[in-house]
Amino acid sequence: MVSYKELGLVNTREMFAKAIKGGYAIPAFNFNNMEQLQAIIKASAETKSPVILQVSKGARNYANQTLLRYMAQGAVEYAKELGWEHPQICLHLDHGDSFELCKSCVDFGFSSVMIDASSLPYEENIALTKKVVEYAHQYDVTVEAELGVLAGVEDEVASEVSHYTKPEEVVDFATRTGCDSLAISIGTSHGAYKFTPEQCTRDPKTGRLVPPPLAFDVLDAIMEQLPGFPIVLHGSSSVPQEYVDMINQYGGKLPDAVGIPEEQLRKAAKSAVCKINIDSDSRLAFTAAVRKVFAEKPGEFDPRKYCGPARDLMEELYKHKIINVLGSDGKAE
Ligand code: G3H
Ligand code: 13P
Ligand code: ZN
Repeated sequence: MVSYKELGLVNTREMFAKAIKGGYAIPAFNFNNMEQLQAIIKASAETKSPVILQVSKGARNYANQTLLRYMAQGAVEYAKELGWEHPQICLHLDHGDSFELCKSCVDFGFSSVMIDASSLPYEENIALTKKVVEYAHQYDVTVEAELGVLAGVEDEVASEVSHYTKPEEVVDFATRTGCDSLAISIGTSHGAYKFTPEQCTRDPKTGRLVPPPLAFDVLDAIMEQLPGFPIVLHGSSSVPQEYVDMINQYGGKLPDAVGIPEEQLRKAAKSAVCKINIDSDSRLAFTAAVRKVFAEKPGEFDPRKYCGPARDLMEELYKHKIINVLGSDGKAE
């Protein structure tokens, strides 16, 4: 058993309480490799932003759970080396799908876990979430749960609506599970194709797809039911067109990729939404930078020469999110 406290990590409790009060959101960035982690830590240290490092089940399989744990531990020391005196870094399991996986992360030094039982029937979601909460709380590890199902791009707009979190369920769910935060469904979804072209309109000037707005009425109704309770938004990448264009320009093929407009995330960050998950944007930045080097310097074969620019572009992206979208800069001096 390793306690996250010994690793210099923090759970989400205080981070979220401050974020809700202060009208900003904490960035939750996924990482799978060293370059992503370096970029996240540099951006957070430079802006003095609290940060959540997210590890998915897929990341654990890709990078090895032991290595990832020590990387997070190393990240705390790296942050201090960069001059961040009191780093506020949380190591979080993203989309845990079983009690065993969540327990293994708690035992392994994670300071926060998500149990995503949102695809199960309501009572089963409650039972599994409660079991994880009871275990995690013994070690002061915070737990994120999910209610409502994030839309897949294959869904019809009409059926997406029926997957939204039901405001009338949230009090019962939060009370009976004891979860620390709640991921909700209000129209975001994972990946770089969040909406089909049919679900969007087109900007007549640019020809770009304009996605339908998030269901802020559902968010408002949830906040009315659970005043001051920490809300989480998954699937919150904006899919910056500059990266999509770069990828397409340098031999990639991402037609009609579309994300959540940043002004909507800015609005969400000012509410009880205190954790915003971003993964795809970092993947796009990485890929765009690597493709550019490959296209412009076909003779290059030193990975540092293309992973370095990828790291720089991701750092720029993370800083932009922190300062211009989430407003979490300067909140962890
Ligand atoms: O929510 C999903 C995250 O973007 C993680 O994706 O399962 O491919 O690591 P992954
Ligand atoms: P994106 O695919 O929009 O980056 O969402 C990431 C996420 O929700 C991770 O849990
Ligand atoms: Zn997610």
